[in-house]
Amino acid sequence: MTDTLQISKFLHGGDYNPEQWIDNSEIINRDFTLFKQSKINTFTIGIFSWAKIEPKEGVYDFEWLDNIFDRVEQQNGNIILATPSGARPRWMSEKYPEVLRTNEQGQKLLFGERHNHCLSSPVYRAKTKSINYQLAKRYGHRKSLILWHISNELGGDCHCELCQEKFREWMKNKYKTIDNLNRLYWSSFWSHQYNNWDDIHSPSTLGDTTSLILNLDWKRFVTDQTIDVFENEVKPLREVTPNIPVTTNFMGGNPPESSIFMDLDYQKFSKHVDVISWDSYPNWSNDYETTETLAMKTALMNDVMRGLKHDSYLIMESTPSQVNWHPFNKSKRPGMHEMGSLQQIAHGANSVLYFQLHQSRGSSEMFHGAVVTHSLSNRTRVFKDVSLVGKDLEKLQPLLKSKYTHTKIAIVFDYDNVWALDDARNYSDQTKKYWHTIQSHYSVFWQNNIPVDIISAQDDLSPYTLVIDPMHFMMDIEYMEKIEKYVSSGGNLVGTYMTGMVDKNYLAYLGGWPERLQRIYGLSYVETDTLYPKQTNTIIWEDNEYKVIDYADVFEQKNATSLAYYEDDFYAQSPALTKNDLGSGTAMMIAGRTEKAFLNKFYSKLIDKYSLRDSQIPFENADAHLSVQVRQDERQKYYFITNYTDNKQISLFKDSYTEMLSGNSLNGSTTLEPYQVIVATKD
Ligand code: GLA
Ligand code: ZN
Repeated sequence: MTDTLQISKFLHGGDYNPEQWIDNSEIINRDFTLFKQSKINTFTIGIFSWAKIEPKEGVYDFEWLDNIFDRVEQQNGNIILATPSGARPRWMSEKYPEVLRTNEQGQKLLFGERHNHCLSSPVYRAKTKSINYQLAKRYGHRKSLILWHISNELGGDCHCELCQEKFREWMKNKYKTIDNLNRLYWSSFWSHQYNNWDDIHSPSTLGDTTSLILNLDWKRFVTDQTIDVFENEVKPLREVTPNIPVTTNFMGGNPPESSIFMDLDYQKFSKHVDVISWDSYPNWSNDYETTETLAMKTALMNDVMRGLKHDSYLIMESTPSQVNWHPFNKSKRPGMHEMGSLQQIAHGANSVLYFQLHQSRGSSEMFHGAVVTHSLSNRTRVFKDVSLVGKDLEKLQPLLKSKYTHTKIAIVFDYDNVWALDDARNYSDQTKKYWHTIQSHYSVFWQNNIPVDIISAQDDLSPYTLVIDPMHFMMDIEYMEKIEKYVSSGGNLVGTYMTGMVDKNYLAYLGGWPERLQRIYGLSYVETDTLYPKQTNTIIWEDNEYKVIDYADVFEQKNATSLAYYEDDFYAQSPALTKNDLGSGTAMMIAGRTEKAFLNKFYSKLIDKYSLRDSQIPFENADAHLSVQVRQDERQKYYFITNYTDNKQISLFKDSYTEMLSGNSLNGSTTLEPYQVIVATKD
């Protein structure tokens, strides 16, 4: 990332909406004094400013924005300039109703909210393109401009006639003939044959939501349309400012799942942005999980975002204190802001940016956390917390060019698979829990302080010693070829229940599991038992008993070796954990969903067997509840060591280190207070 985005400091700042204070220069003056005090160096502006920039069609007012550029530049700050399409001005919807979104029941929405635009409207596209030209021409040469921020948290779909037409074109392009479409859509089911392209309509509760492939294609189409809208916005920017990189803020981490945003294929989208940036809002101190558990989930989200380009990334938004949209908007405990902010840097982020720098006085987000609150004071807890992070980032300046450490383990995550699984009518909607499963596998490594990459099914597997491929329900033959190659040339693969059930057209494989999968795993799939929540089966493995919950796949053993068997029910004595040697590698299958203790043991054996530990831990007492993440450059490693527990933790350093935040030397025993982070580098 640092190659495209030229920054000389970690970015500290965030969304700033001075258009709300345009008549109050005192507030803006005061803001800039406070920003300087809190070491804010980056301002994301213009996100929702369209109505101020173009109050009437074709009438522009840039003066206020010019002033903000001047103010920022007087302080040597950076500007991330947003294109204003995150919210449209009222006049546009009045004059051109086609820009408004239509819901899946065909109702055109009224003006309001934000992100409320049609994905196909030619008017909307022309208007965004033209305002972006204006912005690029006016501000492209400003020395503070470091990055374009396209729109805001793109998402949602539109079902208007224009979008239906686009969908039909997309389908024509993909399926070529109606006969082919009918064949691949298995449309003789329920007499759903298509007679011509005009029959195609998006999924709707007033029409069809039962065609699994139609639902999936609609999701694929919405991603493509969103990318198209994005590219339409980017075109004028690339033309006028070819050297300014482009991002858009991705979403992730909403409680309780803390999963990546699932409605758009970010893996596909990421190819179109220069720099990955995302909005991170963990609900620290909730009442259903420990801080350590939430830290693990947040670590995973950071690794997902890092994995999109396998590079450093930006945190575009985070809250300096509480939000206003969690089920419970809890304030941050002392120490948590620093802890959460540095966690992101530890995983390879090069920024701590906030929503927002100054709290809005009214409307829906008026009590959302901000650096400057209604008190306008620098004596608030939040202001002090933010200032501390500002100082920290300055002290960490030597590691700006460092990147997240090298990993030997990858977990595969694929959007088509997520969508397909989500819609699958076998299994149980209550217990599929795909993301939870990814978290369970990931957490074993996180607890052991072993770094993991989250990769897509398109990524190269060869750099990894271990590839974990959980619940890969929708899998095409090409991918099977790829994992076969990976394993036979020495890779180690772990698969689980629900693997390889359908192809990319959402059609079942005929004749049982594809031969390739049978060869890879040395098994043939027989059936899946979906358990009710109170039912369990059992696995006995090396004298320990483990519970099987939710799902048990039944396999017939072919070339594989069975390491453990199910104990109960009609599939008692069929294999529950297997290993198959293929070429110089191994493919293992975890056939049922197990309790966590099983995964702990299973992976700790692999960690030893494949030497996956890689000297990540700089202290002797590896069992201390301390989390270690490593960034490194050519010269050295930087160890971010965090206490995510509510108790003091002691580390016994093996050598002498310098702690970069305090400047102290670390030697032997060091006590970390709850939520404390230290950054150690070897002397
Ligand atoms: C999102 C949006 C912001 C703001 C914040 C509030 O991330 O992008 O505009 O609404 O949520 O947390
Ligand atoms: Zn539309």
